[in-house]
Amino acid sequence: MATPTFRRLDLTLLTLSLLAVAVNAHNITAILEGFPDYSVYNDFLTKTKLADEINTRQTITCLVLNNGAMSALTAKHPLSVVKNILSLHVLLDYYDPQKLHKISDGTTLTTTLYQTTGNAPGNLGFVNITDLQGGKVGFGSAVPGSKLDSSYTKSVKQVPYNISILEISAPIIAPGVLSAPAPSASGVNITGLLEKAGCKTFANLLTSSGVLKTYEAALDKGLTIFAPSDEAFKADGVPDLSKLTNADQVSLLEYHASPDYKPKGTLKTTKDPITTLATRGAGKFDLTVTAAGDSVTLHTGISPSRVAEAVFDSPPVVIFTVDNILLPSELFGKSPSPAPAPEPVSSPSPTPSPLSEAPSPLAASPPAPPTDTPAGSPADSPAGSSENSTSDNAAGHVSPTVIFTVLAIVGYSLC
Ligand SMILES: *[C@@H]1O[C@H](CO)[C@@H](O)[C@H](O)[C@H]1NC(C)=O
Ligand SMILES: *[C@@H]1O[C@H](CO)[C@@H](O)[C@H](O)[C@H]1NC(C)=O
Ligand SMILES: *[C@@H]1O[C@H](CO)[C@@H](O)[C@H](O)[C@H]1NC(C)=O
Ligand SMILES: *[C@@H]1O[C@H](CO)[C@@H](O)[C@H](O)[C@H]1NC(C)=O
Ligand SMILES: *[C@@H]1O[C@H](CO)[C@@H](O)[C@H](O)[C@H]1NC(C)=O
Repeated sequence: MATPTFRRLDLTLLTLSLLAVAVNAHNITAILEGFPDYSVYNDFLTKTKLADEINTRQTITCLVLNNGAMSALTAKHPLSVVKNILSLHVLLDYYDPQKLHKISDGTTLTTTLYQTTGNAPGNLGFVNITDLQGGKVGFGSAVPGSKLDSSYTKSVKQVPYNISILEISAPIIAPGVLSAPAPSASGVNITGLLEKAGCKTFANLLTSSGVLKTYEAALDKGLTIFAPSDEAFKADGVPDLSKLTNADQVSLLEYHASPDYKPKGTLKTTKDPITTLATRGAGKFDLTVTAAGDSVTLHTGISPSRVAEAVFDSPPVVIFTVDNILLPSELFGKSPSPAPAPEPVSSPSPTPSPLSEAPSPLAASPPAPPTDTPAGSPADSPAGSSENSTSDNAAGHVSPTVIFTVLAIVGYSLC
């Protein structure tokens, strides 16, 4: 009984530790710090958080622009447009100067980070690299009819087959990218975007509770929203949220957003717990993030939730849909199953919510008529256990904290 559990735990840890290694392929910021000619480019990789995305990729080529060329771009365009332009300068393949001159048939299309955003239909997210006469290599958008307006000027740095940095003469501009509407952060219509993304229940709750105002006030400084889909509110085992006090409802909704702009690449590279708008003290109402390949999972201490998709990403605001409602342990207590190790921090909540009298708020209330919960068969396991394919469950209710502690030990003993 204990052995298979232990083996599954081992596998999870192994997977996590392999990922931990893979996630830190390079540090583009540190590499470019050695080249002052590209300090503006480097600065904008950080501002747009593209640096995090680059660092999670094993094999990559950055086409860099010198400070003059970058300043011309950044003076004229908002950050969201600059991000789109720079994403097209990050090739998801390794090109060193030798390879540039050995392209078969002398011309090729290569995919870029822009292609991975989902906002690049057709060939918009591809770059055309063409070996021109006289040893010159031209770059341009792969959209048919585009000119090869940019050319290779020099090599900056190569780590063979992992990362290559090449300087090019001028920005590669895909058609329409410069004129893309760039909403000002404060003008982002949060509820409109949520409704369009299939998160109407969540949008209505934000409006009726007044928490929408808190979200809106945070827009300018950067905001990441984790919006549960309408299905998430109908899932088996969802606690009856109408039983929460008003204050706890507010905390629950505030828990679904994090201050600061954290697009997917940033979530993937995040090791420390992230704070939410509900965080009012160290370690309270925070979220732990794990990544496996391109998949990102949030952990609340109660149950995990997959980050489904970015339905809006325009720095400094990103809106993700998530599969499950995020249930903070501060409101919904610990998992009722005995944990193999105690949580290091046990903080009794000073003002017990009405829910704390219920033995397990996660177990669906048997015959009660909850509007959102479909004819709930009283689950004898907590909501999280329906996620049988996730690492949380594979680890048998081990809290993320425990996993990370053990992971740290595993990592240490490997050194
Ligand atoms: C990458 O390098 C920068 C600058 O040296 C540093 O501030 C940052 O913490 C590094 N990032 C990681 C993930 O090590
Ligand atoms: C790249 O662009 C050039 C010039 O427009 C074009 O002749 C060539 O066919 C393109 N390459 C590919 C692979 O489409
Ligand atoms: C390239 O990346 C691989 C995989 O992470 C690593 O094993 C290898 O050492 C790296 N090569 C160099 C030259 O750093
Ligand atoms: C936001 O979008 C919703 C739904 O599309 C719409 O009803 C509302 O008027 C919009 N609000 C603003 C301020 O534009
Ligand atoms: C996960 O659990 C659900 C019901 O709890 C079940 O229908 C499904 O087959 C399970 N999936 C796996 C991969 O075990």
